[in-house]
Amino acid sequence: MKLSIVLTLATLPSALAASGYHRTPVGEYISSGCKYATEAKVTFCKKSNAKRFDCQCTNENALASMAYCGYQETEHSPDKRHSFEKSFIKSCKGNITHDDIEAAYNRALKKIVSVKDIPNFNKTVPVKVPVKYDHTAYVTGYRSRESRSRNKDDALEMSFVLLCFWGLVTVSSGLVHVSRRMAPTLWLSANRSLNNITLFRKLRQYVTIPATHRGKHTEKYGYLGFLPTRLESIIIFIFVTLSVVFHAVRYEFVFPNTSYKTRHAQMGRLVGDRSGMLANCLFVLTWLFASRNSIILAFTGWKQSTMLTYHKAIARTAIASTLVHTIAMLVHTLDLGKDRYTSRSKTGWWRWGSVATVAACVILIQAQAWFRMYSYEIFLYLHILLAVFVLAGAWIHTAWFDDEQWYFACAALWCLDRFIRLARMGYFGFRTAHARVLSAESGIFEVVVPKHKAWIAFPGAVAYVYFLGTPLFWQSHPFTIAPAEDGKLRFVIKAKRGATASILRRLLASPDQTASIRICVEGPYGNYAPIKNYDHLLIYAGGSGIPGPLCYAKHLGELALSSRAPFVKLYWVVRHAADLDWYKDDLTALARYSNIQPIVYITRPESALATKAEADSFSDDDSNEGPASSPQKENSLSEITTRLPYSKQLAHVQFRYSRPDTAQLIAEDMADFAGASVAVMSCASPNMVDDIRAAVAVAAGSHKSSTIDYYEELQVW
Ligand SMILES: Cc1cc2nc3c(=O)[nH]c(=O)nc-3n(C[C@H](O)[C@H](O)[C@H](O)COP(=O)(O)OP(=O)(O)OC[C@H]3O[C@@H](n4cnc5c(N)ncnc54)[C@H](O)[C@@H]3O)c2cc1C
Ligand SMILES: NC(=O)c1ccc[n+]([C@@H]2O[C@H](COP(=O)([O-])OP(=O)(O)OC[C@H]3O[C@@H](n4cnc5c(N)ncnc54)[C@H](OP(=O)(O)O)[C@@H]3O)[C@@H](O)[C@H]2O)c1
Repeated sequence: MKLSIVLTLATLPSALAASGYHRTPVGEYISSGCKYATEAKVTFCKKSNAKRFDCQCTNENALASMAYCGYQETEHSPDKRHSFEKSFIKSCKGNITHDDIEAAYNRALKKIVSVKDIPNFNKTVPVKVPVKYDHTAYVTGYRSRESRSRNKDDALEMSFVLLCFWGLVTVSSGLVHVSRRMAPTLWLSANRSLNNITLFRKLRQYVTIPATHRGKHTEKYGYLGFLPTRLESIIIFIFVTLSVVFHAVRYEFVFPNTSYKTRHAQMGRLVGDRSGMLANCLFVLTWLFASRNSIILAFTGWKQSTMLTYHKAIARTAIASTLVHTIAMLVHTLDLGKDRYTSRSKTGWWRWGSVATVAACVILIQAQAWFRMYSYEIFLYLHILLAVFVLAGAWIHTAWFDDEQWYFACAALWCLDRFIRLARMGYFGFRTAHARVLSAESGIFEVVVPKHKAWIAFPGAVAYVYFLGTPLFWQSHPFTIAPAEDGKLRFVIKAKRGATASILRRLLASPDQTASIRICVEGPYGNYAPIKNYDHLLIYAGGSGIPGPLCYAKHLGELALSSRAPFVKLYWVVRHAADLDWYKDDLTALARYSNIQPIVYITRPESALATKAEADSFSDDDSNEGPASSPQKENSLSEITTRLPYSKQLAHVQFRYSRPDTAQLIAEDMADFAGASVAVMSCASPNMVDDIRAAVAVAAGSHKSSTIDYYEELQVW
């Protein structure tokens, strides 16, 4: 991770610095203005190029006329004169000196004439004397050059503002995260003081904690997919507004113009230049926020899903910017004439630019939530392929204009991330894991694999698992690390429709519902939530969301044996009593810890009687009554758990037989813990997690004397 921090830090600034951008000096405008003005009416050389200064650097009359113009226009400003001399010398690639310019000026003072004083003047025949320039033409040349160069300089500075904006967002989040970690007591007491201020509490209730709209954050919001939290939405809104404003303001259209005959040609070019340069910067940010091994994640403590939320917003803005660039340049080219369109459309830069634009537009469609949900794997590999086309296309396109440095940065970030991922996989190696079904009814299985001692599994850690010994070896899926015996890693997995379902099917097909599978683990990722300094920790877990919360509970239980640790209420909501089988040993182990109070909600206690584990429990109990025939079933729901074979081991666990009203539960717990510092953690099904977020926002807004923080472990993207 340290290596990734250093390398990521080094990549971006060096890529930007290497690009060598600087604001165009005024001397270049003066040079351009003078070149245009001196050549507007006369010819100095038989061959002259509108953009290059070859004639001015070599022809003594052109040089003298140029020096005369430059010195006259900078008569009252030594700085501008110096800048003019510097720019002119640069345009001549150092083939003239300051003394040459001064000498040429002195010569001009003696010999310069007006066009009208030249006998038998013919514009096509090179003149033999220095000629006075036309000031109006000078202004046109100056302003034409200024409007285009200033637009590019502005675009660069706007790009830096966008980079700084994200720098500010990450640095502020990082400072909050680091201060929480480094000075937790100070953090909590500062929070307590701030909590007395109504505005602060309301800010938390309505801005920093809740979901953006209708309480949906981890649960899908129709076709829009996953909505950011309200704070994330505000950050994205500011960023998008800044980007739109940067695309729209500070254009200076100059007429008449030395380069463009029509208004459309000029507008197309200026808008095209601006949006192209902004798109370059936005693509760097897009890659930066796509990385799994990013310094940003380590510094801010954000979840991967937060990074990806920003990645999506930035990427969409980058694609919009690319489209603006493409359309504007097309308008510009069409306005220059059909011939120009035909010749340009055959160039490499045009074709590779088109490849990048088309690939980016396809990404915009294929990365929609419905497509990711439909098949994550097809989405992922198509996404990578299209991203390769965007990167290659944009790189080759911009290399024509010496702007490809931005894409070095994108490629460097991407390669670095992939390299670290490979290194992590290599470090873990290919190992044989033991997989077994925990509940066929709920589709839950576990995978246990031995690990190195140095591979640290911490509470909240997540790892990507490659099931090499299956036809799906090329996929990797994220799973939370569950409590396990020393030297082992354990994942408890709820089968969905894809890879996890296929592994479950394989397990179910084997006689003892187990299998040995070669796996590779890439990790650990994630952040340890800094919860140990709170007075209380409320954990709300649902179904297969329990592994992370259990790790935290065990960790705090162990901590309490030797030092101060929060009191933990661990709520686990499951459908059937049989679901307790998955974690009965871990639940049993919690009995050792006096600061842990496990409370299990069973939401469908009656249907539990139909499950295999339940049936087993009845027969183990030597009961003559089968589960279906028990007349006491309806009368006593608690029998469901007391009849479990391991019910005595779970005497410390409180059972409740209903679906919890999380809002009410949180309100009651907060009332009990009034005046204390409370951390709330959730990892459950998305709708339950969203309910908890909403309830915590209300609690944070209304409890003056308590400090309430929210840690959401569930991640969706
Ligand atoms: C940080 C994190 C930790 C997780 N921990 C656990 C855990 O401990 N136990 C558990 O049962 N589940 C966990 N999940 C969910 C688990 O990763 C998915 O259920 C699994 O990847 C689905 O694989 P599949 O091919 O069967 O999915 P599919 O049936 O193809 O898809 C089901 C859902 O999972 C999403 N999904 C599929 N592949 C991925 C992927 N590679 N990355 C992200 N999302 C994906 C899809 O978008 C879809 O919404 C975790 C998810 C995340 C993001
Ligand atoms: N770090 C991570 O991101 C991470 C880690 C582990 C797991 N996961 C994922 O997390 C999800 C866990 O969900 P699951 O499918 O295992 O759970 P589930 O089976 O859908 O639900 C578990 C229990 O929660 C109850 N419940 C659901 N919504 C509720 C609400 N709003 N209020 C109160 N109770 C509610 C259900 O009650 P009913 O019976 O009434 O429906 C059920 O008893 C899985 O998708 C898993 O892949 C993610």
